[in-house]
Amino acid sequence: MKMWSGRFRQPLDPEFEKWQRSFPYDRRLLPFELEASGAHARALERAGILTAAELTSILTGLDTIGNKAESSPEFLNDLEAEDVHHFVEKQLAAIIGTAGYKLHTGRSRNEQIATELRLFVRASVDTLQELLANWIDAFLTRAEKAGGEALPAYTHLQPAEPVLVAHWLLAYVEMFLRDADRLADCRKRVNLCPLGSGAVAGATLTLNRQVMAAELGFDGPTANSMDATSDRDFAIEFVNSLSQLALHLSRWAEEMILFSTPAYGFVELPEPYSTGSSAMPQKKNPDLLELVRGKAARVMGCATTLQTLVKGLPLAYNKDLQETQEPLFDASDTVISMLPLVTGWMQTVEFNEDRMNQAASTAFMNAWAAAAYLVERGVPSRLAHEAIGKAVQLAVERGCDLQKLPLADLQEIHPSFDAAFHSRLSLAEVLALHDVPGGTAPRHVKRALQNARERAASLRAHEPLVVR
Ligand code: ARG
Repeated sequence: MKMWSGRFRQPLDPEFEKWQRSFPYDRRLLPFELEASGAHARALERAGILTAAELTSILTGLDTIGNKAESSPEFLNDLEAEDVHHFVEKQLAAIIGTAGYKLHTGRSRNEQIATELRLFVRASVDTLQELLANWIDAFLTRAEKAGGEALPAYTHLQPAEPVLVAHWLLAYVEMFLRDADRLADCRKRVNLCPLGSGAVAGATLTLNRQVMAAELGFDGPTANSMDATSDRDFAIEFVNSLSQLALHLSRWAEEMILFSTPAYGFVELPEPYSTGSSAMPQKKNPDLLELVRGKAARVMGCATTLQTLVKGLPLAYNKDLQETQEPLFDASDTVISMLPLVTGWMQTVEFNEDRMNQAASTAFMNAWAAAAYLVERGVPSRLAHEAIGKAVQLAVERGCDLQKLPLADLQEIHPSFDAAFHSRLSLAEVLALHDVPGGTAPRHVKRALQNARERAASLRAHEPLVVR
C-alpha cells in the first residue's frame, strides 16, 4: 500500500513513479530509520496511542526488519518502496499485520528524513574523527623520527629557507587538526533531534520530544518545526568541512607528487600504492596521490550541489531536499575511503633524507640568516639585505656558496663582516636562528610536536578541540 493513495484516482505514470523513488539510495539509512522509528513508537506508547502489546509487536517487527536486511541483502530489492520510510512501513505491516500502520501516527516523513540524515552525519563525523586521528598520527610518528633532518622550504616554489623535516610535517598536522575541529564543531549543530516536528507545524500528539531526543543520543530537540523539517545546514556544513579536508589532502598530494619527481627526489613512491605504465617500462606513477587530488574536485562539487540546491527553497519541506542525499553520501564515502589509503601511503613512503639535507644546504637558503647576522652588528635591515644580495651575486658569479666567499671580498661589500660570519651560515645555525614559537628552531619544533600530540590525543577521546 502506498503512503498516500487515498486522494488519488489515477495511478502514477510508471516512468515517473520509478524516477522519483529515493529507495535505491536512501536504503542505506535503514539502521537509522529503525532507531528513529523505535523512539517514535515508545513515545506513542507513553502518550497512550499504542498499547504495551502493540509497542512490543512494533519493536519486534522493527528488529526483524533489521535482521533480515543484514542477513539477506536481497530483502532490500523492493521495487515498490518509494523510500526507506515507505519500505519499513510496508515490511512492518507484512510482518506484524495492520498494527504496523499505527507506527506512523502523529509523524511525517519530513521529520523522519531530517532526523535520519542527522544520525547519518553524526555517525560519519565519528568515523572521520577516528580516521583523522590515524592520519595525523602517521605525520606525528614520522616527525618524531625525523630528528634533525632538514629540507628546503619554498615560497613561490623557489627555495626560501631550510626547515626541519618535522616542522614541515607539522604544517600538515595543523591543517588536519583544523579539519577535525571543524567536524567537531559541525557535530554540535548536527546533534539535535527533529522528531516531533511533524510535517511542518509540529506533531499533533503530545509526544515527549526530550525523551525521543535522548534515546537517540541527541543533545536535545530542535527548536522550530518549520526550520527542523527543511533545514539541511548540517549537511551543507558537513560537506563543506569535507571539502576543506579534501582540499588539504589534495595540497598534500600535489606536494608529494612534486617531491617524488627526479628534479626534487625527496620522496620515493611506495610501490604498494603506485602503478606502472603499460607503455614506458621505467615508469612508477603516483596514482594514489593523483586520485586524491582528483577526488577533491568531486567532494567540492558535492558541496556546491548542496548549496545550490537549497538556496532557492522557501520554507519548509520541498521535495528538492531529497536531492541532498546523494551528494551527502558521496562526499562522506569519498573522504572516508581516502583517509585509510593516504595513511597507509604515509606510513610506507620513504624520504630521501640525504637529498633533502643536501638541498636544504644549497641555493643560498641561508641568505636571510646572513642578513640577520649583519643586522645583529647594527646594520639597518634594508642595507643588510642589499649587502647580502650583492654577496649572493658575487657567489653566483663564482659558482660557490655564500659561506665560501673570502672575508676580504665580503668586507669590500660591507665593513661589518667579520670572522664569525662563515660559521653562522651552517645549516644547524640557520635552523636555530628561527627561535620563536611556531618557528623551525629545534627546541620549538620539539615543543610543537608534543603540543600536537596532545591535541591529536583529544581527537580520539572525543574531547572538544582547542585550535591554537
Ligand atoms: N524521500 C523523501 C526525502 O528524502 C522523504 C520525505 C518525503 N516527504 C514528503 N512530503 N513527500 O526527502
